[in-house]
Amino acid sequence: MCGIVGYVGQGQRSAVDVLIEGLHRLEYRGYDSAGLGVHENGFISIRKKVGRVAELERLVGEQPVRGTVGIGHTRWATHGGISDVNSHPHVGGDGAVVVVHNGVIENYSTLRERLQALGYHFKSTTDTEVIAHLVAHHLDEQSRLITHPVDNDTLLAAVQHALKSLKGTFGLGVLFRDHPNLLIAARFGSPLVVGVGKNEHFLASDASPLAGYTDQVVYLSDHELALLTPGSMELIHRDYGRTAPSITVLDQSTGDSDLGIYPHYMLKEIYEQPTTIENALRGRLDEEAATSVFGGLNVDVQDLRRVDRIVLTACGTSWHAGLVGEYLIEELARIPVEVEYASEFRYRNPPLTDRTMVFAITQSGETADTLAAMRESQRMGHPTLAICNVVGSTIAREADGGIYLHAGPEVGVASTKAFTSQVTVLMLLALYLGRMRHISHNAGGKIISQLRKIPEIIQQTLRCDEQVRMIAEKYHKISNCLYMGRGYNFPVALEGALKLKEISYVHAEGYPAAEMKHGPIALVDEATPSVFIIPHGTMYPKVMSNLEEVKARRGPVIAIACEDDDRIAQIADDVIYIPNVEEYLQPLVTVVPLQLLAYHIALLRGCNVDRPRNLAKSVTVE
Ligand code: AGP
Repeated sequence: MCGIVGYVGQGQRSAVDVLIEGLHRLEYRGYDSAGLGVHENGFISIRKKVGRVAELERLVGEQPVRGTVGIGHTRWATHGGISDVNSHPHVGGDGAVVVVHNGVIENYSTLRERLQALGYHFKSTTDTEVIAHLVAHHLDEQSRLITHPVDNDTLLAAVQHALKSLKGTFGLGVLFRDHPNLLIAARFGSPLVVGVGKNEHFLASDASPLAGYTDQVVYLSDHELALLTPGSMELIHRDYGRTAPSITVLDQSTGDSDLGIYPHYMLKEIYEQPTTIENALRGRLDEEAATSVFGGLNVDVQDLRRVDRIVLTACGTSWHAGLVGEYLIEELARIPVEVEYASEFRYRNPPLTDRTMVFAITQSGETADTLAAMRESQRMGHPTLAICNVVGSTIAREADGGIYLHAGPEVGVASTKAFTSQVTVLMLLALYLGRMRHISHNAGGKIISQLRKIPEIIQQTLRCDEQVRMIAEKYHKISNCLYMGRGYNFPVALEGALKLKEISYVHAEGYPAAEMKHGPIALVDEATPSVFIIPHGTMYPKVMSNLEEVKARRGPVIAIACEDDDRIAQIADDVIYIPNVEEYLQPLVTVVPLQLLAYHIALLRGCNVDRPRNLAKSVTVE
């Protein structure tokens, strides 16, 4: 939920340049405020303020800081309001310790009272400042216990003692005023990665800030600390002591995360979908065997054959993709599927058997609730796989196996290409499981040929953009909106509603269309449009009846319908036409106009489509 960067060098680079660039790349994790602390002339100079990283950059331009060791932070507020004083870094003791933190300390108020009783004065209302004073306190204590000058081991011991008091999650970067060449990192529950350079080391919440500096990284594990100096890196695990670093070489070609010709990342990522769906399919369609192929499931075929129940656990848009997956797997493989909100699954303790398989679906691979749900499933002994986009993310690394989306960096907070890639992967999984059971070679072959056409069909669908923009002009001042769909398009109705509400702040709800009669139709009036997803298919007549019920109550209707539908225009107020595809493939197509509708309405309302208020791209706190 926040982004951390750190740098220790010997003068080959300006710490401020590395920190600012890194914070720009992590801004998707939170953008309420930003700050940095850099060793300069025997002190740690701090610059921090409310607003985007660009504001911090301006501040640093006006009040320069020069040094080669520093830490930076971009914040999504958890404890303590959005203010300059609550921005990170936070200072401990008399300035001896400076900390940046990603996570939530649950027992911070008790610790705060204890530290105040010891004479520590707090400036902020954050949980992070507690950590800074706690480290300073233990450093004072450690300093009194030793007869030699304070060294790295003394500083390490101070941090270790402080961490023992913390309940909650943290990814930490810690600097010490009197030890300018040392940066200590600590991880529990919030991701941290170390970048290994030549006489320089980097620290970040994920690998994106490291691109261009190094491709050698070490992902810290929970309870692991790193002592970083320009020329050295030491890893210490709480339980196992000093551990050898496991270096991962990053694939630097993980898709470009620059805007290119687009005004916003969200629009770029919507337009990338023909390519990203192609990437999700690449190498995974076996025409000869008429089935899907996965490289990393890591599950024995016989075990897969025995599976008699599947749980898909996720949050937000990924949960909506899971709902599509439920319809797909149950139809194509006839295996009962349950889709669980990760935040519920982790505490609900559902009755699962040894023939239950659990999949965690996540774009970022860092969502705290999804990670916890996966760990809970693994604790119960279930093979737990991940459908994930970010290579090397915590969930991807801890899962027992999985399937990558290969969608490239998704920077826009509103998930778009990840959704269609997740649905594509779930279609491949349904085909794979179905062909193990009763889908014939011929039927499997047909599914493969239909899947191969999808990227081109999405390309055609994107032609509706201008039409959608004009419709958005007509409706952008609304306060409420309903989304209706049935069958495979019910989850798409939920997803369309989420897109609209999270970037335009318009209240929107998605329902199975037939549910209208059971309450929501009371919301229908001339000022509340209903978006009906009504492509051809078995449900068309039923959805049409629901649509007419809304029209009978003077509710405006925006229809997402097939190009060859010659009836809809007489009934709906506005129609967005899409290509016709098999019902089970419709979510990949019907979602695109809804993504564009949310995008254009948000723009017309003057909202920040890539960085909507109150949100962050990766929810790494509970
Ligand atoms: C979707 O537009 C939202 N940004 C949010 O619901 C997101 O899907 C959710 O937080 C799950 O994230 P994940 O896929 O990275 O786990």
